[in-house]
Amino acid sequence: MMNNDNKTHSVFSASDIDQLPQRYRAEFINSLSGFKSGNLVGTQDHQGHQNLCIVSSVVHIGAHPPLLGMIMRPHTVQRDTLENIKSTGVFTLNNILPNMTQAAHQTSARYAPGISEFVEVGLTPQPSTAVSAPYVAESTIKLSLQVQDIQLLSINQTELVIGQIVEVILPDQSIDKSGYVDIEGCGSIAVSGLVSYHATQRLARYPYAKVDAPVKNVLQRSHANDT
Ligand SMILES: Cc1cc2nc3c(=O)[nH]c(=O)nc-3n(C[C@H](O)[C@H](O)[C@H](O)COP(=O)(O)O)c2cc1C
Repeated sequence: MMNNDNKTHSVFSASDIDQLPQRYRAEFINSLSGFKSGNLVGTQDHQGHQNLCIVSSVVHIGAHPPLLGMIMRPHTVQRDTLENIKSTGVFTLNNILPNMTQAAHQTSARYAPGISEFVEVGLTPQPSTAVSAPYVAESTIKLSLQVQDIQLLSINQTELVIGQIVEVILPDQSIDKSGYVDIEGCGSIAVSGLVSYHATQRLARYPYAKVDAPVKNVLQRSHANDT
């Protein structure tokens, strides 16, 4: 098919998507929702065995109380992270830096229960004083969360885990006077699909939008003032 940009385009119908091979479909559909945050979920079981896994489905649920959600795959095979989250009620979220992408990706391999992904991929556990789950020492943004709700989504048997942030650790200089956290300055990478990792480049920064005030790019204006 030809679009306005003179490039040929593929069109996938619902039944085309349904007939795609399983892994291809997972990668295809996962890519479509755009760039997502890369997070390492730190958990441990009641015996103190630590677990680490990458997730890209973390979303903002609300700021007051401070809630984050993440979608966990169906619990049809052994899921150490989900098991630990359900039994201890806590977990940590840790950002991924450019020099951690290979290790972070490797945490998605199916290691046997009791095997620590920290050891296997070469990342360092750091105790949280807020919850009984490990942070990743190499990360620059570390969050401790207490589970508030877990919703089984009947549409596909995935589970929405909702956690309340009970501790935040990040560099002082990364927070500005409005509360904005410069995640790019903290080195956080972005994820697309299930295999691709990206550095980011901020294009603009706007103040809170108001109907009667024209929008101004604060980032460009401050650059202009520098010259
Ligand atoms: C880039 C990337 C993103 C992922 N995002 C998620 C996710 O959002 N939810 C999920 O359940 N699994 C996700 N996974 C798969 C888990 O990392 C994988 O199933 C892991 O083995 C689970 O660890 P566990 O067996 O210790 O529970 C992702 C994998 C990759 C490579």
